[in-house]
Amino acid sequence: MQTDSSFTFVLFGGTGDLSMRKILPALFEAHRAGGMLADSGKIVAVARHATDRGEYIQWVNEHVKPHVSKNGVDEAAWASFLERIEFVNIDLGKAEDFVHLRDAIQDLPGIRVFYLATGPSLFVPICHALASVGLNANSRIVLEKPLGYDLKSSNAINDAVGEIFAEEQIYRIDHYLGKEPVQNLLALRFGNALFEPLWRREWVESIQITIAEELGVEARGDFYDNTGALRDMVQNHLLQLLSIVAMEPPHSMDSDSVRDEKLRVLRALKPIDPRDIGKVAVRGQYHSGVIRGTAVPAYATEPGVKPESATETFVALKVEIENWRWAGVPFFLRTGKRLADRVAEIVVNFRAVPHSALGASALRAGANRLVIRLQPNETIRLYCLAKQPGEGMNLASVHLDLAFDQFFREGQMEAYQRLLLDVINGRLALFVRRDEQEAAWRWVEPILNEWKASNKPPKPYASGTWGPAASSAMLAQHGTCWLEEEN
Ligand code: BG6
Repeated sequence: MQTDSSFTFVLFGGTGDLSMRKILPALFEAHRAGGMLADSGKIVAVARHATDRGEYIQWVNEHVKPHVSKNGVDEAAWASFLERIEFVNIDLGKAEDFVHLRDAIQDLPGIRVFYLATGPSLFVPICHALASVGLNANSRIVLEKPLGYDLKSSNAINDAVGEIFAEEQIYRIDHYLGKEPVQNLLALRFGNALFEPLWRREWVESIQITIAEELGVEARGDFYDNTGALRDMVQNHLLQLLSIVAMEPPHSMDSDSVRDEKLRVLRALKPIDPRDIGKVAVRGQYHSGVIRGTAVPAYATEPGVKPESATETFVALKVEIENWRWAGVPFFLRTGKRLADRVAEIVVNFRAVPHSALGASALRAGANRLVIRLQPNETIRLYCLAKQPGEGMNLASVHLDLAFDQFFREGQMEAYQRLLLDVINGRLALFVRRDEQEAAWRWVEPILNEWKASNKPPKPYASGTWGPAASSAMLAQHGTCWLEEEN
């Protein structure tokens, strides 16, 4: 990818965790690869925990360098990357300080990108302050999740930001959309004639989407305890994946064609009836347990978490889409922390053949299944039935594997790198539009409300397992079970 679009990338929260682990390493990778970032492009870090550029560069050397290039840092590239970095020390709470920012960047070339890697409470004040010094023109703004706590608070942020920036200037990040395999899902669905005719209720029995993590809440106990898995993972990542799996073919890959189709799915989600919540939603909270031989503590004892916390660290849902393509097909979603494995995958369970001429072994061997694994290893696996060698007609399930790292040995890109390049180059397709976000909040809110009103605690599960038993029981009601494959 070659670019000549110059840019000034202003990074608010320049010494924050996200800048350290994701944003600056992603910019470095783009720089190192060559040809992706215009030579004149600058990164302007805004932070309070450093006094001047020298101190900031020292911080970058100490904290960011360990997060770049697992196979060793290219020192020459690192040195030239540091030359791109400028630094401005301002108090984000003081609008008058933004004059210094304007003075620092007004003569820098290219499009301005303001990346708000700060808490959401600062989004609106920062936007106002940018507007007060005229920096909202010829610019793009990137908002990190969480964008609000519910529909009302997310609308309040979107309204306020929307008064200052037009929708096409606003890039709402959902880093799952930047993952290579999610792109590949679009390629699989819309680049191959093979799957699309089968991608509907006549041939699909059920679909599962899992994002499982081994990690607990780490150092984010405080934030997480006020958030929970439904807001942290379902409202955004899982519903975005669902909308890509289920959407109609867009007429092109331009940003609004794709986002219009995703929106249609989100709007077609069957609203959850509070009376059915026990049947279609399971929430859990991790207790102590063992993961890969190491004992790990209970959620309620994690730093920053209230001992009596009723916050969910696991969610499983049965979702239905009310349209012709998907009527009656259950979509099972689940996500959780401290589960048995780190895996993100989409499983499409196809229906069995309408008539089995091949006898009982064909029935026992099951049906076709497509497993699209997003992480840890990107693979697509298609399960088929084949005859076992030897006498008689005995069928077994076998699989065709597509391991992307074996086909494409180069060119892999981390989600943040792709998304940041998209912002700099003005490509909106992988960013969440306001109406999508609203539709997602509208759908999850009754679940949040019902859980709050019911006063029931989440179901416990031992760390290192696949969540509460009720999650498997929910699928059993539909004659299916979660796919459990070895990594
Ligand atoms: C973030 C959530 O959006 O996604 C985290 O806030 C979660 O809680 C993370 O751990 C998972 O992302 P990934 O890319 O590691 O699967």
